[in-house]
Order: sequence, then C-alpha cells, then structure tokens
Amino acid sequence: MTGSALASPLTPVSPTTRVVVCATHEIGEVAAGLVATVAPDGVLGVATGSSPLALYAALIRLRAEGLATEGLRLFALDEYVGLDASDPASYAAYVRSVIADPLGIPVRHVRVPSGYTGADGAAYERAIAEAGGVDVQIVGIGRNGHIGFNEPGSDAETRTRVVELDESTRRANAEHFDGDLSRVPTHAMTQGVATILSARRIVLVAAGHAKAPALRAALTGPITPDNPASFLQRHPDVTVVADPDALQEDR
Ligand code: F6R
Repeated sequence: MTGSALASPLTPVSPTTRVVVCATHEIGEVAAGLVATVAPDGVLGVATGSSPLALYAALIRLRAEGLATEGLRLFALDEYVGLDASDPASYAAYVRSVIADPLGIPVRHVRVPSGYTGADGAAYERAIAEAGGVDVQIVGIGRNGHIGFNEPGSDAETRTRVVELDESTRRANAEHFDGDLSRVPTHAMTQGVATILSARRIVLVAAGHAKAPALRAALTGPITPDNPASFLQRHPDVTVVADPDALQEDR
C-alpha cells in the first residue's frame, strides 16, 4: 500500500485499530484503496468536510480506471439544521456534488440526515438498517474530538438526533460560510456514536497539526465522552490514515 512505509509516532491502545502514516498528498489514495472494497454495491458511510476530499477525488480516479461505483449506496453522517439541500453549504449539496454525481450514484441511493427541525432520527436509523447496515464508514475528526457532530459530552449510546454545535466547531466551519460565523447553523442532525460504531469497518482520515491533540487522545487516551472519537477504540475494525503532523505530539 502506498505510504505505509512511514513509522507511526504512536501505538494505539486498541489492538483493533491500525494506523497508516503517509505523506499528506498520499492520504486520499491510501484511504480510497481501503474504501474501494465496498464496490460494486456496498453501503458506504460518508463524512463531509475537508479531510476526505482527496479520498473522494481518488475514488473518482479509480472509477475512471474501471472501479464500478454506480451501485454504491451512500449514507451521510450529518447535516446542518436549517439548510435546505439546495444550499451550497449544506452537506446534502456536498454529498451530491463531491461524491454521488462524480461516482455515478443515483439520487435514490443517497441519504443525508434531514436538516429540518423535528426531523426523525429514528427514521434515518431504520433506513440504514434496511440497507443492511454500513459496510465502510469514512470519518474525519474535529479538533475537539468529535466524530460526525457528536460533540464532547456525547456518550457511546447516542443515536441519530439533533445536537447543538460547539462554538469551536462553528468557528472551525465558518470558512465554509465565507468566514461569517453568524451564518453557521447552531444545530445539526448527526448519526450518533452508536450509529457510527455499528458500521462494519471504519476508516478515519486526518491531516495537520490542528488534529493532533484530539487524534492522539482518541487513540492513546482513555475512552471518554470528553473525546467522542475515543469510542472508536471499542470498534473491531478501524484504520486511521493520517499524515505525521496529525499524529505528532504538540510542539
Ligand atoms: C463531517 C463531520 C465532521 C468532520 C470534522 C472534521 O461530515 O462529520 O465530524 O469530519 O469536523 O472536519 P474537516 O475534515 O473539515 O476538518
């Protein structure tokens, strides 16, 4: 596998977590190699945000080389409350334009949590179950240790629901709203920690110093709601694909 030659600066506590360290520009290709096992007709859980962009670009290249992706079914992790799917800042728009359309996946095979107040988290859980569960779940990690939008304080039993976003998360994501914090929604609908952990396989992608404190704590620290990504230690099949900066101790 490309990039696996770099030594990991840390050893995860969990024996079921593998860490693949590679150069930043190789993360997408390495992670896509893992995710491609879900083709041609598996269920892929997709994160949005910056971290997996190179992964999706690499999957699109694999499709151009012959990987059959049209039969995949997609479930997104989360959506902002109050943003319509037609809003370019919505995760529905991201999933459509960055993932589904370029991979040739029809709209009927794409699910994103509804961003409307009062939307039914249980219905989203049922849809995942009816699809047979998620085969491979892609996740990023927030600087505060969130996965999906399970902010610190989220426990292991949480399921799809509406949550209030941390101020730090809203500030980190303001760049996607022209830097205007006042436009960043205050709430989101997110898969819960338990929902994410029910995927058969999890691939976490992370790059850059900003992620290091949360990622290191998730992999080597105690399992705690203070760092929801630490619950990944309980999952039987997690691969972290990260650059050295995302795993380095604070300097
Ligand atoms: C996005 C999501 C979030 C992001 C996290 C990292 O669907 O669920 O947990 O993965 O906020 O975001 P980036 O990759 O933009 O740093």
